[in-house]
Amino acid sequence: MRILGSLSSRQRLIAGVAVIGLLVLVVVAALLLTSGQTDAASEQPLAFNHEIHAQRGIQCQYCHYGVTKSPAAVIPSVELCMGCHANVRTESPIIQELTGYWERQEPIPWKRVYEQPSYVYFTHQPHIASGVTCGACHGDVASMTVAHQVVDQTMGFCLGCHADQQNKDALYDCAVCHR
Ligand code: HEC
Ligand code: HEC
Ligand code: HEC
Ligand code: HEC
Ligand code: HEC
Repeated sequence: MRILGSLSSRQRLIAGVAVIGLLVLVVVAALLLTSGQTDAASEQPLAFNHEIHAQRGIQCQYCHYGVTKSPAAVIPSVELCMGCHANVRTESPIIQELTGYWERQEPIPWKRVYEQPSYVYFTHQPHIASGVTCGACHGDVASMTVAHQVVDQTMGFCLGCHADQQNKDALYDCAVCHR
């Protein structure tokens, strides 16, 4: 503390403020570094893996069968999983966890990754019918394990693509997305 002792009280105050400032910076940096891990991916109740299923040739629409017929894509039920996993990889601890949900007849409480506020109307069906790919709005899910958000689905994002369509004017109407 000899260094501090040789400083005037004003200099000590400045040094103190600098130390506190540095601590705040370190804490903020630590929070920023860990915040990437607090998204839905790390909080999912079960370590589902998109990549493994895509590599086995299972199509997105086999599980998300709502995309061509309803607003929602649908997250598959445990029953759909068990259609395969009653027999496939039953030795895996994750599949045993899955089987536990099935035996208890409990739905898996998946956390939503993409969710629009309630005042936004969105529907998958017309997009899929027009040939818009899943990747345009969700990124490369086939190479993800648990799905995580890579596209920022803001109003600007929606309008940006609607502006490229032939019926641009109709698709720009506020009432298309805010009913
Ligand atoms: C159409 C068949 C099919 C369906 C439906 C299916 N899976 Fe799979 N799953 C597979 C196959 C095939 C593998 C790879 C098995 C292997 O590598 O031996 C796999 C692997 C997995 C793994 C990796 C296991 C490990 O130990 O690494 C998990 C976890 C998994 N599935 C969970 C699910 C969940 C949850 C569902 C329902 C949402 C589901 N699966 C639906 C066929 C299916
Ligand atoms: C075997 C079933 C299965 C297949 C095949 C599958 N998914 Fe999924 N998908 C799930 C399950 C289960 C979840 C919920 C867990 C999660 O978020 O990872 C999910 C979540 C998602 C989400 C996040 C949903 C949200 O909460 O907003 C997107 C986006 C998605 N899948 C897209 C795709 C795309 C694109 C494909 C094809 C490349 C695909 N999925 C193939 C089962 C499947
Ligand atoms: C034009 C953009 C767009 C395309 C294309 C798109 N999605 Fe989505 N998806 C969204 C939006 C926006 C949401 C959030 C909807 C909400 O919260 O109401 C969403 C939600 C989801 C969800 C969450 C659960 C649910 O039931 O909706 C899944 C799963 C999903 N999409 C899968 C897919 C798959 C698989 C494809 C391709 C077959 C696809 N999406 C194509 C924009 C898109
Ligand atoms: C990559 C391009 C693309 C993106 C991104 C996109 N859309 Fe679309 N959207 C389309 C196309 C193409 C259609 C179908 C146009 C048609 O059927 O004439 C459409 C149609 C719609 C419709 C139905 C319109 C009607 O009257 O039938 C709604 C609602 C809609 N989009 C909402 C959204 C929302 C909300 C978002 C953002 C979360 C979004 N879209 C992002 C391309 C896109
Ligand atoms: C293609 C779909 C689409 C159309 C068309 C659209 N919006 Fe939106 N709007 C969205 C989405 C998605 C959000 C939520 C995401 C966000 O806040 O960016 C949103 C959010 C908003 C918000 C809330 C913004 C905030 O910061 O809380 C307002 C206000 C709004 N829109 C007004 C309008 C008006 C006015 C029009 C017509 C000129 C319009 N929107 C047309 C998709 C659309």
